Amino acid sequence: MATIPRATQFAARTSRLRASTIREMLKVTQRPDVISFGGGLPAPELFPTMEIADITRRIMSEYGAAALQYSVTEGIPEMRSWVARRLGRRFGVHFEPESVLITNGSQQGLDLIGKIFLDPGDHVVLENPSYLGAIQAFDSYQARYLTVDTDDDGMIPSSLEQVLAHAEPLPKFVYLVPNFANPTGRTLAAERREPIVRICEHYGVPLIEDDPYGELRFEGRDSGPLIGYRTEGVVLYMGTGSKIVAPGLRVAWIVVRNQEVMERLVLSKQAVDLQTGSLAQYVFAGFVENDAMLEQHVQVIRRVYKQRRSYMLECLRELMPSYVRFNRPEGGMFLWATVERPGFDTEALLRVAAAQKVVFVPGVSFYPHRDVHSGMRLNFSNTKEEVMRRGMERLADAVRAQSPGG
Ligand SMILES: Cc1ncc(COP(=O)(O)O)c(C=O)c1O
Repeated sequence: MATIPRATQFAARTSRLRASTIREMLKVTQRPDVISFGGGLPAPELFPTMEIADITRRIMSEYGAAALQYSVTEGIPEMRSWVARRLGRRFGVHFEPESVLITNGSQQGLDLIGKIFLDPGDHVVLENPSYLGAIQAFDSYQARYLTVDTDDDGMIPSSLEQVLAHAEPLPKFVYLVPNFANPTGRTLAAERREPIVRICEHYGVPLIEDDPYGELRFEGRDSGPLIGYRTEGVVLYMGTGSKIVAPGLRVAWIVVRNQEVMERLVLSKQAVDLQTGSLAQYVFAGFVENDAMLEQHVQVIRRVYKQRRSYMLECLRELMPSYVRFNRPEGGMFLWATVERPGFDTEALLRVAAAQKVVFVPGVSFYPHRDVHSGMRLNFSNTKEEVMRRGMERLADAVRAQSPGG
């Protein structure tokens, strides 16, 4: 009979790993009769399936064995220069391909960042609420969290200043999602961007700008990226192909101009997986190299997500009681709702809602200190309009059932 390992045989870093509510919930949502506003999934019907099939065939005949061989840790040259070019064009800022590291999803980027910066007990500064996957990645390096106040315009610079001025010791980095954040859909206001860069520069704290949703803007104007400011400080920009092409390819990137940071990231990645899959990189590069095709594809995604966002807002306005507040993101995949009733707990709501076959992610999962219970993350990208209304009706019923007096 196999012996059961004693808990002490595991590394201490594994003791804090929390099962992601989202992953657990995705299991429930596999059932066809459940309507899910929970996952952060792109709309699968928009994946460029046939194009990817054609490109894969072409890659095999053009590159053959090279696409199946080991490659360099930093990423294939075609990918690194495409990232530098695309960001350069989007932001009007020059980037060198040498500043780009291709990672196996941005999630790996977050892990590598944790690996190179964090010793057990180190402080990390987060928005409140923040992306759960980042909290999970930093948890495994036994980080402690300092939270900065946020409002509808994202992180509040004066609150960041306060946190850094009183932090002892100084945190290892500040992490934020500047555009259409996960979970709130909020965007960091243009006038807050430079002050945040300057505060981090002043305290010598690296800034991590995680931007998976920036290309999914449906309306309004883009603000420049934090990495676009001239600074003595270290800024790491993260982007991903998951939302503009397909998450299954696992192709993403970190851009950092500081060579020492880049070297450590590369060495750490080498130890983890040697490199991001060669075939996936060639296929991704094959799809995105055609600017017109990529642009057309992203425009379709924006159009469909915008319709779904607007329809979800319409349903919320029509169906929810007046004490449910929600925002109106100008892009991305999520909106954020709060139930403004004293003591209301959206985890308890989820249990009632799941019994009525509709799910969402309770906000508490995204608060590093798990201390705010009134929020819900609602995903609109992955539900068609005809199903959305039914889901919202069920959710509104569940909210009323959970609220004394309805
Ligand atoms: C803010 C944020 N960062 C990173 C990721 C991970 O993306 P990837 O698929 O590139 O690993 C996600 C995915 O939802 C996200 O929302």
